[in-house]
Amino acid sequence: MKRIIKSVTLSVLLTTQTFAISLIDEAKKSGLIAIPAENKVLNKLISNPNNYMNQAKLTLGMMLYFDPRLSKSGLISCNTCHNLGLGGSDGMSASVGDKWTIHPKHLNSPTVYNAVFYTRQSWDGRNPDLEDQAHGPIQAKPVMASSKEYITTFINSIPEYVDRFHKAYGSTGEIPFEQVGHAIAAFERTLVTPSRYDDFLNGNIKALTQTEQKGLKTFIDKGCVSCHNGIALGGTMQPFGLLTPYKHIEAGSFRGDKNGMVRVPTLRNITETAPYFHNGKIEVLPEAIKEMGRIQLGIELSDDETNQIEIFLKSLEGKKPSIVYPALPASTKKTPKISP
Ligand code: HEC
Ligand code: HEC
Repeated sequence: MKRIIKSVTLSVLLTTQTFAISLIDEAKKSGLIAIPAENKVLNKLISNPNNYMNQAKLTLGMMLYFDPRLSKSGLISCNTCHNLGLGGSDGMSASVGDKWTIHPKHLNSPTVYNAVFYTRQSWDGRNPDLEDQAHGPIQAKPVMASSKEYITTFINSIPEYVDRFHKAYGSTGEIPFEQVGHAIAAFERTLVTPSRYDDFLNGNIKALTQTEQKGLKTFIDKGCVSCHNGIALGGTMQPFGLLTPYKHIEAGSFRGDKNGMVRVPTLRNITETAPYFHNGKIEVLPEAIKEMGRIQLGIELSDDETNQIEIFLKSLEGKKPSIVYPALPASTKKTPKISP
């Protein structure tokens, strides 16, 4: 009797192992890629040859990311809308910027975590990389409403900032506007969040529970991977409302790029970044999953399938880099005064 139980347990164990091993293979074949476990490999992947990273630049970029004085009001920093404590987003359907302005296209603030892995930045993919993107929000009226002139005067009025730029860039003299966005982008490149899912793809078959593995299988089998792939499980330009129009398409004027393509958002940390879609009109994850099935794949996902996918998506919650809120250098007599 004991022997039978033993051999049944062994065969169950073997089946679960075989399932996990072939699932890893299937996931990789369908285009899913893990965040590399080795720091050296990861560092190479997140680097930009035109924006070399050093510790001085990363610290400076982090300070600027948190500095609200880069905005006209003196109140709004990158972290206001891309809150690193809130999954890199702000939890609102549309972002709210200078003078409490709701985004004119009713666009939701996307997360900055893992954005480094995208092939294009912004919902319509207009920016090729983080360096190009970072100059936009500082100057955009409904966002931070500042200007190149203001930013250069501001930075150059604070000796500690000037000194930090010189150290980061090995430069001397006035700090140009472009370096501000570049330093911020260097910091953003480090906002990567490895999860148990990565451990699983990297070969640790116990890193995901059997239920999560089943969810991953459903995610692959249903075809979500045709757009949510790569390291970010997103990041490329794809059609939206491919088979049926999105049910909240009327909210806001966003219709994708000139060809109607939309940059696929990452699914990493998706449980932390509700509400969903470019206009934030869907509040809960199961509804977002079902809507995707309907509009992108032309299928009605059952409650059970939706639940399986949701359980898998939860395993994409990653470990955030630990960040100490920076002490920012004080303004000086030369710093432009902010008057409300
Ligand atoms: C008022 C809210 C707000 C502020 C402040 C803000 N952003 Fe954004 N951010 C947004 C919104 C909304 C979008 C999407 C805009 C679009 O796609 O046209 C966005 C897009 C992005 C993206 C692209 C991410 C993706 O998924 O494509 C990055 C990166 C980013 N912002 C970084 C920054 C940085 C760096 C700062 C500070 C210099 C900043 N943002 C300030 C609201 C904000
Ligand atoms: C044909 C490409 C395509 C397929 C297939 C697809 N998606 Fe998407 N997905 C997108 C695009 C594009 C968006 C962004 C749409 C928007 O907000 O305008 C998106 C958005 C999402 C979002 C919301 C993300 C956020 O941050 O707001 C979730 C969740 C999601 N997809 C899950 C899934 C699941 C689960 C499946 C499979 C059932 C799936 N998707 C299939 C392209 C696709």
